[in-house]
Amino acid sequence: MLCRVAENGRYMRRARSSGRAPAHDCPESGRRAHFHCEHVISAPYPHLRAQLRSAPKVWVVTGVAGFIGSNLLQELLALGQTVVGVDNFSTGHRSNLDEVLASPLNGKAQFRMVEGDIRDLETCRAACKGADYVLHHAALGSVPWSMDDPLRTNAVNVDGFVNMLVAAKDAGVKRFVFASSSAVYGDTSDYPQVEERLGRPLSPYAASKTTNETYAVAFQMSYGLQSIGLRYFNVFGRRQDPAGAYAAVIPRWIASLLRGERCRIFGDGETTRDFCHVANVIQANLLAATVNDVNATGQAYNVACAESVTLNQLFQVMRNRLALQEPRFGLELPQYDAFRPGDIRFSCASIEKARRMLSFSPTHSVEQGLEEALGWYVEKAQATAGHPVAAMPRHQPASVVNPPHHSGTPLTLVAS
Ligand SMILES: NC(=O)c1ccc[n+]([C@@H]2O[C@H](COP(=O)([O-])OP(=O)(O)OC[C@H]3O[C@@H](n4cnc5c(N)ncnc54)[C@H](O)[C@@H]3O)[C@@H](O)[C@H]2O)c1
Repeated sequence: MLCRVAENGRYMRRARSSGRAPAHDCPESGRRAHFHCEHVISAPYPHLRAQLRSAPKVWVVTGVAGFIGSNLLQELLALGQTVVGVDNFSTGHRSNLDEVLASPLNGKAQFRMVEGDIRDLETCRAACKGADYVLHHAALGSVPWSMDDPLRTNAVNVDGFVNMLVAAKDAGVKRFVFASSSAVYGDTSDYPQVEERLGRPLSPYAASKTTNETYAVAFQMSYGLQSIGLRYFNVFGRRQDPAGAYAAVIPRWIASLLRGERCRIFGDGETTRDFCHVANVIQANLLAATVNDVNATGQAYNVACAESVTLNQLFQVMRNRLALQEPRFGLELPQYDAFRPGDIRFSCASIEKARRMLSFSPTHSVEQGLEEALGWYVEKAQATAGHPVAAMPRHQPASVVNPPHHSGTPLTLVAS
């Protein structure tokens, strides 16, 4: 079997023998993607982290109570940064903040919460005042939701986005980094997807993210606000919500398996996705915010692992890993339903541009990320429902989740 190995920021092929999950081709990349890969971090990111530790900055994270936002918060606080969080808790959870804040803060770290809606310009201004960097992640992030309610998606994802651009520009922030999406590739037949070639958007959500990218470039051209869009490809990890009606596939399936219910696969299961652990997303954000080369700004980058995984493969790996703890999971079979309108059939990213321009180098393969995420979900299930599944191996116990304690705003927490 072949496994991609990152060495000095470049992937190499290396022979490997194991009886692990089947590989899947990512044809135009000329590589064979695989679950079992070792990633070696390249030099720039550790260097950047050391720099931030010694000279902390002020960061605005919108959508801070959501899945990606709370992971950004956790990492920035661990690096001793000052974070101003913005959220209206529409899809995010106070418990996500509680979990992050339950860990001991780095000595210099500070956190201030602005509870509010990005559709309100004054909320955006209150957050951006005095900030160095904005990491904009507040949005309605579901394709099916956008098809059910395109007006609300537009109001939050486009009007709210422009509010944040205006607030960031007026506050004089150094860089505006924002969450775009692989959805912008729409019906392109390119495989893997490269940044320069977009298809037609297949959903209002996709249209909103394409519009974000256009607005960001327009603000850079008009006002000199430097921006970078990050096109995420199926991010997963701890704190991704399994409960919502439009939950993403990995947390939804984990929850189904743990409840003893069948996992639903829309289509024949040969749909592919480029799953990306949230640690890689955090890295991309910090690199994008601080990259010195101004030519790297005013553009969008794929953020992924460049590993193409079918839903059938994903199901097998998740089932088999849980079966290591409890054999009954090994008998689980998925339930196949009709294809969902708006879903992209094949998705695999080229990350060469992010490697070249941002020094992006994924540290977590799908395999490593799944192990971490599964462990976290299993422990959550045990903690909240007394679920009998044994804990996953090699996973540190999750922080105790406190009952909500910060309903008022603004909230300022300073590490003691
Ligand atoms: N998770 C993925 O796989 C993925 C893939 C591509 C792009 N993205 C993008 O990344 C970003 C974060 O996604 P996520 O998965 O963490 O989603 P999430 O739903 O967990 O987080 C979004 C957060 O934004 C907040 N929010 C929503 N509307 C708001 C408003 N009007 N004002 C203030 N806050 C508001 C929500 O309460 C939530 O906490 C989104 O922009 C999403 O479109 C995510």
